[in-house]
Amino acid sequence: MAILEGRNLTMRFGGLIALKNVTFTITSNELVALLGPNGSGKTTLFDLISGHLTPSEGTIRFQGETITGRSPHHIARLGLGRTYQIPRPFPALTVRENVAVGALFRGASHSPSRIHAQREAERFLEIVGLPDKAGALASTLSLGDLKRLELALALATRPALLLLDELAAGLPPGGREEVISLYGKLRARGLTIVAIEHDFRTLTQVADRILVLDQGSLIADGPPEVVLTSRRVAEAYLGENDT
Ligand SMILES: Nc1ncnc2c1ncn2[C@@H]1O[C@H](COP(=O)(O)OP(=O)(O)OP(=O)(O)O)[C@@H](O)[C@H]1O
Ligand SMILES: [Mg+2]
Repeated sequence: MAILEGRNLTMRFGGLIALKNVTFTITSNELVALLGPNGSGKTTLFDLISGHLTPSEGTIRFQGETITGRSPHHIARLGLGRTYQIPRPFPALTVRENVAVGALFRGASHSPSRIHAQREAERFLEIVGLPDKAGALASTLSLGDLKRLELALALATRPALLLLDELAAGLPPGGREEVISLYGKLRARGLTIVAIEHDFRTLTQVADRILVLDQGSLIADGPPEVVLTSRRVAEAYLGENDT
């Protein structure tokens, strides 16, 4: 069953076309990787899905509802969680309090008490590997720990679909096994995931399907073994060094 559908999405920033006529479908419980050279439109596509930007053209359906042009708040309440390429937690709150905000954000009828939210927060910090930083101020975290914090915050909102923007960036080198195990834990929770992820070896191990953007156009959509060996995809990455 399709959980997310983008149809003919185009995004213009003045004269610059960041996305051109992009159409895709994400099925429930899939882990789809979004790949593409720098500036190919990956984060812009996430911004369209999460409602931070409104597409110049095209439509987006999420959980059976047309969400094009709806607010980020509305879309989050429908069950969309995301992390950012540049993490943006509440710096003056502790790590635990940040994640508790995510738990409290849920629909009014499901909202836990403050104490309960903090306890829940600790569970999610455990999942992402950050339990010993629960009492630290978010402003004191390393980039890798901020990425973990954002993931815990997103999980606490109990999303059905997670958009992850470069989860592995900032994690220590050689942390590939940790990233793979993290994806495994997320899948075990029944989440559908779209992940911007650059490491080909990680992708072959975790992704069911890979979408590739090049200069705003979707140039590949298929299983990792097909996409990662495609000449068109290799050319997109080689072309990156021409400019
Ligand atoms: N708010 C904006 N205003 C103007 N141009 C923008 C804006 N956001 C993105 N762009 C441009 O749109 C294009 C796509 O950017 P985007 O950030 O989506 O790429 P990306 O694939 O996420 O790249 P990276 O791998 O570097 O994160 C780039 O040319 C970028 O400069
Ligand atoms: Mg980006």
